[in-house]
Amino acid sequence: MESKSAAARPAFPAELEYQSGFGNHFSSEAIAGAVPRGQNSPLVCPYGLYAEQISGTSFTSPRKFNQRSWLYRVKPSVTHEPFRPRVPSHGKLVSEFNESNSSATPTQLRWKPVKVPESPTDFIDGLYTVCGAGSSYLRHGFAIHMYTANKSMDDCAFCSADGDFLIVPQEGRLWITTECGRLQVSPGEIVVLPQGFRFVVDLPDGPSRGYVAEIFGTHFHLPDLGPIGANGLAASRDFLVPVAWFEHLPRPGYTIVQKFGGELFTARQDFSPFNVVAWHGNYVPYKYDLSKFCPYNTVLVDHGDPSINTVLTAPTERPGVALLDFVIFPPRWLVAEHTFRPPYYHRNCMSEFMGLIHGGYEAKADGFLPGGASLHSCMTPHGPDTKTFEATIALGNEAGPRRISNTMAFMFESCLMPRVCPWALESPYMDHNYYQCWIGLKSHFTYESVNKDGQDVANGHGDHK
Ligand SMILES: [Fe+2]
Repeated sequence: MESKSAAARPAFPAELEYQSGFGNHFSSEAIAGAVPRGQNSPLVCPYGLYAEQISGTSFTSPRKFNQRSWLYRVKPSVTHEPFRPRVPSHGKLVSEFNESNSSATPTQLRWKPVKVPESPTDFIDGLYTVCGAGSSYLRHGFAIHMYTANKSMDDCAFCSADGDFLIVPQEGRLWITTECGRLQVSPGEIVVLPQGFRFVVDLPDGPSRGYVAEIFGTHFHLPDLGPIGANGLAASRDFLVPVAWFEHLPRPGYTIVQKFGGELFTARQDFSPFNVVAWHGNYVPYKYDLSKFCPYNTVLVDHGDPSINTVLTAPTERPGVALLDFVIFPPRWLVAEHTFRPPYYHRNCMSEFMGLIHGGYEAKADGFLPGGASLHSCMTPHGPDTKTFEATIALGNEAGPRRISNTMAFMFESCLMPRVCPWALESPYMDHNYYQCWIGLKSHFTYESVNKDGQDVANGHGDHK
């Protein structure tokens, strides 16, 4: 599946080196001494490199939110021909959701896993928006994309000016080359590529599939831990950031593909954008292995709210209200006594998009498959299917501790109401029978047997008298 040009790029080593931490001020040099000492932008940088800052927040953002990095590169990013609309245009990427490009629907939606195409398709062409809300122009909103691809990107780099990409690979590893260095991301790991960073996705395993949450106008944070304390959930030290790596090759006809307002633009240049010899700063790509997550849960009764499994949160200005939370449902023990252990039946003012990386999901006996997806929008009812409910009740109160194994489901949860793209609604992978999984839920109401007041229940009313 490797193209000639992609194969010409050196293969990733089996063990890439990383720096560790979340929100750190990192520093990395592929050549010792390439980061200027004592200042960011000297008259002449070491080794004759150009200094270039990438700002991930406004200059005047409060210090605790401020994100920027300094890149020291062979030639600056500005050295390119004008941007032009890409030909052919993409057509399935949306960054401003309105009546012209997407639909409102309160219906529970579920998709079967989309097959990877057989025709050559790279990460850019294999990417399509499923749903989203708000606007990248107004710097408030999100888009949920998915991708199915089978070949490495060829002589081009991608960049989103719209927002940060949180990529959840479900099938196939990703070899991602960024301006800060290289990351290998396997299914079971996630990677965040912040707004504006240029990157290439190579697919060493060929056919590949996954999910992407793109957030407009903010960045991901680790959630506060509150009474949990100083440890637990995702630990800062398990986030991995690349070390500086560069290529210094002539690349005539190299193309930068920039997503800007949901449209793709291309610009030609004659060198690789991965010419950053050294860098320092706190605006960086990073990855995280979901198996490192330290879950907390109830140890006596009831089912905890899913927020307890938040890995990363993109905040709004309202306390506790997320533009987008990334939540996982990892392997863990269920021990609650006299409790309905699967997720409770629910209507939520937030909207919930779910995906499954591998295994099964505790609330759905069947139909929700690895690589598939579901969307339960604002105040749309959802919960365990009939089989799960009946099987759980049949276990009775003496169920005993049980370990949920071989599973990794996740949720993108947002306070905004998503609109759904037409190609997602009309997709042949849409599960039109999804509602059937709940239709069989029968009444277990046994009021008659406990009614000692002689009320007339035959007419279906039980008003207190
Ligand atoms: Fe829910």
